[in-house]
Amino acid sequence: MESDHIYNSLYMVFVLTGMGGEVPFPWKRNKKLEKLLIRGGKRLKGTVKVSGAKNAAVAILPAAIMTDEKCIIDNLPYIDDVTVLAEILSELGARVTLDPAGRITIEPSYVNTYRADYNMVKRMRASYYLLGVLLGRFGRAEVAFPGGCEIGVRPIDQHIKGFEALGANVNIKNGIIYAEAEKLIGTEIYLDVVSVGATINIMLAAVRAEGTTTIVNAAKEPHVVDVANFLNTMGANIKGAGTDIIRIDGVDKLYGCEYTIIPDQIEAGTFMIAAAATNGDVTVKNVIPKHLEAVTAKLLETGMKVVEGDDYLRVVGTGVPRGVNVKTFPYPGFPTDLQQPMTVFLSIADGTSIITENVWESRYKHVAELKKMGANIKVDDRIAIIEGVEQLTGAPVKATDLRAGAALIIAGLIADGVTEIGNIKHIDRGYEHIEHKFIKLGADIERITVDQDGNVKKPSLVV
Ligand code: EPZ
Repeated sequence: MESDHIYNSLYMVFVLTGMGGEVPFPWKRNKKLEKLLIRGGKRLKGTVKVSGAKNAAVAILPAAIMTDEKCIIDNLPYIDDVTVLAEILSELGARVTLDPAGRITIEPSYVNTYRADYNMVKRMRASYYLLGVLLGRFGRAEVAFPGGCEIGVRPIDQHIKGFEALGANVNIKNGIIYAEAEKLIGTEIYLDVVSVGATINIMLAAVRAEGTTTIVNAAKEPHVVDVANFLNTMGANIKGAGTDIIRIDGVDKLYGCEYTIIPDQIEAGTFMIAAAATNGDVTVKNVIPKHLEAVTAKLLETGMKVVEGDDYLRVVGTGVPRGVNVKTFPYPGFPTDLQQPMTVFLSIADGTSIITENVWESRYKHVAELKKMGANIKVDDRIAIIEGVEQLTGAPVKATDLRAGAALIIAGLIADGVTEIGNIKHIDRGYEHIEHKFIKLGADIERITVDQDGNVKKPSLVV
């Protein structure tokens, strides 16, 4: 068995499709010396196609190993979080074929371990979904505490409470979470906080439990619904996803399937805000407009024009935005994952804006960077008070986390002069072909590699 595992763990195939990629495992490149260089001042114009949803993909990929049969998943974003996860699944024994054009084939019948050690999971936060998946499949999971963005304390007590309610014994020792159940039995689980991760993780384990599980106060995010739809396509029986009560009738078996992931609501929102901030005219295509209602409403409130189509949103800048107040909330509220880009937009608004971050306790690390660019923002605990300035100016800055990185790109696009963004490994975790998409819209942005002294060595090729 052990040697089988070693053989299988090597079974990961990349199908390169002539997209100009130089390394099939882009996340393995040393990105410490890569930077994005932006010469600001260009209005974004044109059409951009949004990729598949990262936060759906990072749950759907592990969920695919809950069957023995082959799953084919389309509209997958080709981002570092996905390639890392594909590799983790292959390390668990699955046979994985990943096409950077956005399709993955997972053959899970070879998965032969319920252990995911720290070396596997440290590379991404969402590896906590392996707990629900392995518990559902093997009745047992040993998964190390995951890595991910530093945006405050990221407890998983609600995930654990859910597994325990289903009858699992859960222990944490030396940074490893051990969960074990002779039998998972459905029950009612009330979440103390609305948690995307806990809702999905409990759903994953509960699809194989005996009887009915009800999750009360569940998260309603589009990616929660997408994961439920994927599991239902595999033969699960989940009802109510997208409302705050989800009912799962356990089934004995899950089957292989083909599935297409929904568009990324956060990537779409990022381009909408970038369009507005650059006073541009951008059609964001391949979106589900309903998922972006909170963003559309806020942009309209600032005075921007938003035109809604069946599968697109066109944002037209109308000059200096009005200052507005933004409070982040779970879906359908304004998404915390767009709070940072929105902060940048409001930093050049007319008047004062107040942002209240209700989801994460420490998601203002980008503010220190924005101040280097001339923004006037004061942070007090979960509140940021923004006094709009006329113009940001380019500066060397650092991406502190994924969405902070996206925010800094927008800041660079509207700033006077050159902005150099370091630590861009965070951005590559979640945005597919980010600079290429902005270049197509007219932005002046390039990826460079610098030497230890900061001198530019070469523009980097990117997958
Ligand atoms: C998901 O994180 C997303 N990540 C995050 O996106 C997103 O910011 C967040 O949901 C909120 O929308 C993925 O889907 C992979 P939560 P998750 O559990 O599931 C508290 C990005 O940039 N909480 O909904 O980890 C927690 O502290 C990332 O793409 C508990 O107290 O978030 C937070 O305050 C960053 N106990 C709140 O709930 C728990 O057991 C919401 O967290 C779990 C969470």
